[in-house]
Amino acid sequence: MDMLLKKIIQNYQLAIQEKSAFSHHLSFHWKYFHDQFTLSNNPDDWATFRKKGFSKGLDCTIGQKFTKQDSLKILYDIIKKELGRFSYLIEESPIGCPDASQIDGQLVSESSCNFAYYAFRLLTETHIPIEKPIKILEIGSGYGGLARTLKQLFPNAIIYLFDLPHALALASYYINKNFPNLNAFYFSNFLENGGIIPPSYDAYFLPGWAIEKMPDASIDLVINTCSMMEMTGDIIRYYFDHIHRIINKNGFFYCVNRYTKQIGQEPICIGDYPFDSQWKLRFSAPKWDAPHIHELLLQRESSIKDPNFQPTIQQLNKIGKLITALRNKAIKVLKIKDSSDGIIIPTKAIIFGCIHDVILIFNQTTNKIYVKKIKIIKMNDKMAIIESKFRLEELIVLWEEISV
Ligand SMILES: C[S@@+](CC[C@H](N)C(=O)[O-])C[C@H]1O[C@@H](n2cnc3c(N)ncnc32)[C@H](O)[C@@H]1O
Repeated sequence: MDMLLKKIIQNYQLAIQEKSAFSHHLSFHWKYFHDQFTLSNNPDDWATFRKKGFSKGLDCTIGQKFTKQDSLKILYDIIKKELGRFSYLIEESPIGCPDASQIDGQLVSESSCNFAYYAFRLLTETHIPIEKPIKILEIGSGYGGLARTLKQLFPNAIIYLFDLPHALALASYYINKNFPNLNAFYFSNFLENGGIIPPSYDAYFLPGWAIEKMPDASIDLVINTCSMMEMTGDIIRYYFDHIHRIINKNGFFYCVNRYTKQIGQEPICIGDYPFDSQWKLRFSAPKWDAPHIHELLLQRESSIKDPNFQPTIQQLNKIGKLITALRNKAIKVLKIKDSSDGIIIPTKAIIFGCIHDVILIFNQTTNKIYVKKIKIIKMNDKMAIIESKFRLEELIVLWEEISV
């Protein structure tokens, strides 16, 4: 076994030995995945961890919705166009053998498109210069896919990854294999160092509870994508206390989570997250391809307190309910009418995205995803009249069920 694997296994064991902190951090949802996880000492398992399902639950190449090559190509085309000269970020890493396809000479997966999209959003909305040695701290970094993409975009960034022990083991492997020259700091170093986190490393891999030892006002960008939504309310409050403490003046927090998700007995809602009043909204919208998820980018405003900030965040619960209702309505058989020649095409389809000016229609009969640029002209609870900028001049989408 090589040195890296030995180190990873040693650190996993050290983390799970901290039984009380570990069990406090495990929600009902993640207890299930932890119990299923076996830490292999076989190098071949690590070399193929994404294919073999070791990253199940934290990797959307497993059970992805853009499975078919032509659907993935549609996703790729959208993201590539959006990213322009940054489209190199879409390239998937071969580490861990993900389920990915070659498109236009690039290795592509749904995950790689997603992480490229997040990274580009951060670049364009924060205006952080790419050469800046920023400190990025990710809570719930999964197998490290976004951290890798961000390290490609911001090559001088220092990354701090906090997660549960099994995800952290995968991220340590993945990041080290992608960037073999990184000087990494592990939980074993943390323990040897008396719980002090020194600033002199390139990458940090630590279990969630070590965040307590992060110095105040030390981080430029905190990230949480699709992970708070799977924690308990207690742990979310715990992380918020530390985010408020460790983030720099004018630092950013990128928080992308479901409007609501049932975790055990507890509904976890983004509108209930305990933000204090010292934030400014920089970006806020339902995620373009997954409208049950909300994308928030916030900036720290230490000099002002905005009494309206919490009520603004609470509004997200209402938006979530509305979107859920619309989504449920949309999961029905649709009639799509091409009014240019008057033909009605009965289509068994699911609309899983209708955001801004893009509609994604998944046709269950052909297993294809159609993407249309649209303008909604008129909409009521039964139908929407939509103007399509592309092939069809006008589409009428009827929400009502038809018998087939
Ligand atoms: C659905 S995955 C998302 C992974 C990644 N952020 C993404 O967007 O693909 C949720 C992540 O949250 C992590 N997580 C769950 N509970 C946590 C906790 N208490 N502290 C830190 N991470 C946690 C899981 O281990 C997992 O890596």
